[in-house]
Amino acid sequence: MHSGLQKCLSNPVSIHRLHVSTTAVWILIVFFTLAVTMATTDEETDSVDPIPKKLVCYYLPRAELLSVTDIDPHLCTHLVFAFAKIEDSKLTENSPADLKLYGKMTGLKYVNPKLKILLSIQHGFPALVNSDEIVQEKFYKQAISFLREYSFDGIDLDWEFPPASAKVKYSNFLVGFRKAIMKESQSWQRTPLLLTATLPNSKSKINNYNMAVLANTLDFATAMTYDLHMFNKNIHNKTGFNSALYPPKGENQLFSVIGLIDYYLNEGFPANKLLFGVPTYGRTFMLEDPKEHGVHAPAVSRGDGGPMLHKKGVYSYEESWLALKNGATRVWDETCAAPYFYKDNFWCTYEDEESARVKALHFLNKLAGAGVWTLTLDDPRGINGQKFPIISAIKNVFKASVQP
Ligand SMILES: *[C@@H]1O[C@H](CO)[C@@H](O)[C@H](O)[C@H]1NC(C)=O
Repeated sequence: MHSGLQKCLSNPVSIHRLHVSTTAVWILIVFFTLAVTMATTDEETDSVDPIPKKLVCYYLPRAELLSVTDIDPHLCTHLVFAFAKIEDSKLTENSPADLKLYGKMTGLKYVNPKLKILLSIQHGFPALVNSDEIVQEKFYKQAISFLREYSFDGIDLDWEFPPASAKVKYSNFLVGFRKAIMKESQSWQRTPLLLTATLPNSKSKINNYNMAVLANTLDFATAMTYDLHMFNKNIHNKTGFNSALYPPKGENQLFSVIGLIDYYLNEGFPANKLLFGVPTYGRTFMLEDPKEHGVHAPAVSRGDGGPMLHKKGVYSYEESWLALKNGATRVWDETCAAPYFYKDNFWCTYEDEESARVKALHFLNKLAGAGVWTLTLDDPRGINGQKFPIISAIKNVFKASVQP
């Protein structure tokens, strides 16, 4: 916009300096006007949406890992604060300290006015969805004014997960919420709040949603295409990928990202509203035998927690990086397009720049974008040189696709 304006102002000056006939001047004016119009149109098309793909990044408030003000406001198209809750049929903060963080996060819009910021809710759905219409109508109004009060652009529903018995009631809830959002937007002449959701990673849970209702009420949704393998003593005691694009030989397609995404599309969720989910964290295992360290190797427990997150079974990308720096062996699995690493008895399935790039390229022309869990568990400090390396790898693929 600004450079277009400068061009308009500078053109009369350059014409004025040409000492030629009036006709020539007129021809030149016509030419310049055309040129300026075309240039401006081009620029405006570009500036409307430099990254047409959505890059939706969740933030988990863990100040020791990442504070809100250290989030690059230009990295993602959407930020999602995780979480708030429903309590006594009201949308409310998880802890009083979060209210300050809401303000800091929505403040990032002063730096990037195109950034959209959503608030995600995880707990409190069953009681609300089972309550009567009057209670739900009150909730819609209260939730909308809560979101407006804190300058959010929308709400993300992360109910994990509606049971089969809630299929009809949850659908009615979504239809009612969408109606209330549109009504508020029309009454106050404001951009409607976004209504989005995160969706599960297994067929049985996916089948508990009414796909047509999701498609009609949501602006977009992230398929949580991760946690596909994690240690469980009795049912899952072999190593496996957290979020591999393709399944290993002999494994069900539904335990891979492509298999799940295909399932959503075949069930009727629209591709132009669907985001593939990307985990920035890894899942860790303790091997039974350090000499057996491949995919499907026997495991005896989750891996010990790392030096930052201190969480059994989970590694942030920063922790994976440290492990690799300290001598762990990285293996790239060609079949699955996913990496893992091992050291002694320790085994970790994780996401890195390479796997994220391959996923982004695979879905670039197929889906609306990516949903990343989370900014906090990427490498926010950039110990390898680049801050948020996994999210940046996705962004670079999306950005390259819109270059002329
Ligand atoms: C490992 O898991 C299998 C099922 O996948 C189960 O039959 C077996 O008992 C488990 N082993 C142990 C030691 O728990």
